[in-house]
Amino acid sequence: MAVITLNGRDLHWECDEGDTIMRSALRAGLGFPYECNVGSCGNCRFDLLEGEIEELRTDPPGLSERDRARGRRLGCQASPLSDCAVKLRLMPQYESLFRPQRQAATLVATSDITHDIREFRFRSEATSRFLSGQYALLHLPGIPGGRAYSMANISNDDGEWHFQIRRVPGGEATGYLFSQLRLGDRIELDGPYGMAYLRENSPRDIVCIAGGSGLSPMVSITRAAAVAPSLAGRRIDFVFGGRTAQDICGKEMLQMLPGFGTNIHYHPVVSGMPEADDGWDGYRGYVHEVAHSLFAARLPSCEIYFAGPPAMGQAIQKMLVDLGVDSTQVHFDQFY
Ligand code: FES
Repeated sequence: MAVITLNGRDLHWECDEGDTIMRSALRAGLGFPYECNVGSCGNCRFDLLEGEIEELRTDPPGLSERDRARGRRLGCQASPLSDCAVKLRLMPQYESLFRPQRQAATLVATSDITHDIREFRFRSEATSRFLSGQYALLHLPGIPGGRAYSMANISNDDGEWHFQIRRVPGGEATGYLFSQLRLGDRIELDGPYGMAYLRENSPRDIVCIAGGSGLSPMVSITRAAAVAPSLAGRRIDFVFGGRTAQDICGKEMLQMLPGFGTNIHYHPVVSGMPEADDGWDGYRGYVHEVAHSLFAARLPSCEIYFAGPPAMGQAIQKMLVDLGVDSTQVHFDQFY
């Protein structure tokens, strides 16, 4: 265990062996800025004033050579080897409503959603407390570093954590999850994390846009919004994009929710070239193009959540900037 001291002041917290400086700060209730937790976004940069650390990822995209030369490091990748003194600005919006915990979780069920998306259901002994849209890190045997996956269910007292995960061709972690993990196996689950969670107090209608692997957090947000008393009667539009007709999914989950077809509307989109026998007669194009054609004038008055591949995220961000949507109404986590 190491002691981390902030800005040379009296404020300090403990970091257990194998933990990182950022995650231990969040566990202590401090607002350490972050987003992705996997070394990509750079939001967790801090100045290392004293002490020794091990960096979990040797060349993380979120840290430039210039940062490194100036003594900066990434809080999500810094595991202390000694007591450390660090400098950064804590921000209250990063204080976790539910402090992240590391705990064992057992795989209790799986089900295939499409040819390459599967739902994995884990159960932990403690309650499963999180905000819809957040994610957890799954630590898998023999695979260094945790992998971030968003929950698809909503916060519960039963210790249930459901993840809808798309198999990545050649991917080490999804290869393990899909091919080696068996019912009854235990892994370490660390969470919740993430800032792209449902804003239950917003007075605006909701637009969720998901592509491929982004299904899980958008389903969780829609499930929570459908039953949140503060959002009763609010319109929710859910746009889901896949490359082919066989990638399309999500409706079967949403149509079980109260308000489906009246307040909750589902819009599937296929982006690939038409194939003669694919049977698809719905929207074609990219999700941001379809979202633009469906809601452009409404988007500046909506709360917008999105998750999916990087190119999709960048196209949506550009569209929203061009439409003048206030950035405080737009919620996403960058994992790339
Ligand atoms: Fe650390 Fe994104 S790089 S939270």
